[in-house]
Amino acid sequence: MSARIIDGKAFAADIRGRVAEYVTRLKADHGLVPGLAVVLVGEDPASQVYVRNKGAQTLEAGMKSVEHKLAADTPEEDILTLVDKLNDDPEIHGILVQLPLPAHVDEEKVINRITPAKDVDGFHILNVGLLGTGQKSMVPCTPLGCLMMLRDHHGSLSGLDAVVVGRSNIVGKPMAQLLLRDSCTVTIAHSRTKDLAEVCRRADILVAAVGRPEMIPGDWVKPGATVIDVGINRVPHPEKDGKTRLVGDVEFASASQVAGAITPVPGGVGPMTIACLLANTLTACCRANGLPEPEGLTA
Ligand code: GUN
Repeated sequence: MSARIIDGKAFAADIRGRVAEYVTRLKADHGLVPGLAVVLVGEDPASQVYVRNKGAQTLEAGMKSVEHKLAADTPEEDILTLVDKLNDDPEIHGILVQLPLPAHVDEEKVINRITPAKDVDGFHILNVGLLGTGQKSMVPCTPLGCLMMLRDHHGSLSGLDAVVVGRSNIVGKPMAQLLLRDSCTVTIAHSRTKDLAEVCRRADILVAAVGRPEMIPGDWVKPGATVIDVGINRVPHPEKDGKTRLVGDVEFASASQVAGAITPVPGGVGPMTIACLLANTLTACCRANGLPEPEGLTA
């Protein structure tokens, strides 16, 4: 049996289209333009690509996009001062500080300086607490994208066994909270989990977010399960010398023979992250102005 391939690229394009439509109405009816500020410190090439893509897609959705590129040796105090300025700027509804930050900067201090209502990454300690207690919050973009794909495929997730492999603050932990909120029975597994293969085989929903190329083979997947592969790992190309290719945390060739549905890499979860960032910026703008939240674009 061959799994249904969940097309994250098409899904993300649909979300961006819905965000853009809503933004057009916000402008026409209320004279409002959602604004997203991205702060990039240093020259990390992968981060530069992400930030460029974020900026382009923000503009395409009809929003205001502001980028602050700071030198790698910028003092922490200057970054905090910039965050304060963005917090006070009424034209900015979302603030994203690209991670990782250079070693001399305290990441938690910077993230927790962002006004929680503008924290479109959902990383501020207040948003983490709100999510953990089932209250309205800003929800981290990658888990939000995964949740949207799962709800779209399953309808209700109630009662399903979900296993999240990976316990990061950015993906694993918030993903588990969201699945719990949708009434899954949730297990968080990680590198020290005993009998990881057995734990994975119990999953109706298997979310892989460990950052280890093709670590989860097809025989760890329960027949018919839905597999969400968050991993984006660059590895040497097996046939082309000197070239690389992207693979997930799941061995796609074998897992797609067993799963009921699976996200590919690339073209699965990846494109959903920026789409959800735009959705969160729109949500933040609506909340800031006392307007109803856009339907189907929040958790
Ligand atoms: N670096 C890698 N992923 C992310 C993300 O989702 N948000 C931020 N701020 N930085 C990242």
